[in-house]
Amino acid sequence: MARTPDIEKAVEVLRTGGLVALPTETVYGLGANAEDPVAVARIFRVKGRPPSHPLIVHIGGAEHLDDWVQEVPATARLLAEHFWPGPLTLVLRRGRRVPLEATGGLETVAVRVPDHPVALALLSAFGGGVTAPSANRFGSVSPTTADHVRAELGDAVDFVLDGGPCEVGVESTIVDATGDIPSILRPGGVTREDLEAVLKCPITVPSTSQVRVPGQHPSHYAPRARVVLVEPEKVVAEAELAQELGHQVGVFLPPSLTNASVKVHAVVALPAATAAYARGLYGFLRELDQRGCDLIIASLPTEEGLGLAIANRLRRAAGPRPTV
Ligand code: TXA
Ligand code: MG
Repeated sequence: MARTPDIEKAVEVLRTGGLVALPTETVYGLGANAEDPVAVARIFRVKGRPPSHPLIVHIGGAEHLDDWVQEVPATARLLAEHFWPGPLTLVLRRGRRVPLEATGGLETVAVRVPDHPVALALLSAFGGGVTAPSANRFGSVSPTTADHVRAELGDAVDFVLDGGPCEVGVESTIVDATGDIPSILRPGGVTREDLEAVLKCPITVPSTSQVRVPGQHPSHYAPRARVVLVEPEKVVAEAELAQELGHQVGVFLPPSLTNASVKVHAVVALPAATAAYARGLYGFLRELDQRGCDLIIASLPTEEGLGLAIANRLRRAAGPRPTV
C-alpha cells in the first residue's frame, strides 16, 4: 500500500510533467497533470491510443467540479452529490482549464471523483486535476493490480502507486449529463438501477453495437486469446469441441455449472455474486492469456446490476479485432 513518501513522489512526478499510475476503486489509471498538454499527449503515446479519444479528469471532491466545467445542470449536481466519490463519470461542457488535448478536441469533458484512499490522497496533495485513462495499452484488458500495470507498461510509466487490488474491477459508469435527460454512455460500477433510483426516472443505455463516442470501439478490453460468447447451456459442449479441434481453450464456467468437469486447457469457475465477478473479470481474462489459451469460451450474465457492465466488457472483448 502506498505510503506518504510515495504520495509526495507521485505529486513531484505529476508537477514535473511525468506519468503516474494510480489505483482507483474501478481499475488503475495512467495519470498526468490535466493542465499540462505535453504530459497529456504522452499518455496517448504510451497507451498507443488515438489522440481523438477523450480522457477522464479525476478531481479530489465534488466541490471542485465547477472549476473544470462551464456549467453544472441540476441533474448533474444531484448525481455528483449522490455518487461521488465513486465509480460515476459525468460528461459536461468543458471548462477553460481543460486543454483540448485531454478531451480529444471535444467541447465536453468527462470528470469523476474516484473512491480510493490513495487516489484521494494524491489528488488532495496535488491540488489539481489528473487525467487518467485505464493504465493498459489501447484496446487491451484494464489493469486491476499494480503488477498488471507494471506488466503492461513497464518503464513507460514514471511511477506506480500501489493501492492493492481494485474493489470494483470494472470501469466507471459514464453518464452524459450535458442536457436535461441524462443517458449512460458506458455502463460501469454505478448500476443503472442505482442511477434510476436517484433520478426517479428511467435512463437510457445504448446498445453495445452503437459506437457512440470516440474510444468506444467494438473491440476493447480484449485479451490476446479470441473470446467467443455462447449460450450458458452450451459453454461446456462448445469449449470441449474447440479443444478437440486443437485450440487451447479457456472457459468461463457459470456458477450453475461449477461442479461440471470440463475437458479443456483451463477453467475459471465464476463467482456467483456479480460484484465478485466484476472484481475478478479482468484478472480472469489475464490469467487465461498467461496460461496460454488461444480461445476463451464464455456466456453473458443477466444484464442487471453490475451484470450490465460485465456483459458490455465481454461483448467488446469478443468484438471484431482491428486488422493491423
Ligand atoms: O473507471 C474509470 O473510468 C477508469 C479509471 C482510471 O478512472 N478510467 C477509464 O478511462 O476507464 P478510459 O480512458 O479507459 O475510458 C474513458 C472513456 C473514453 O474511452 C470515452 O469513451 C469516455 O470515457 N469519454 C471521455 N471523455 C468523454 C467525453 N467528453 N464525451 C464522451 N465520452 C467521453
Ligand atoms: Mg480503458
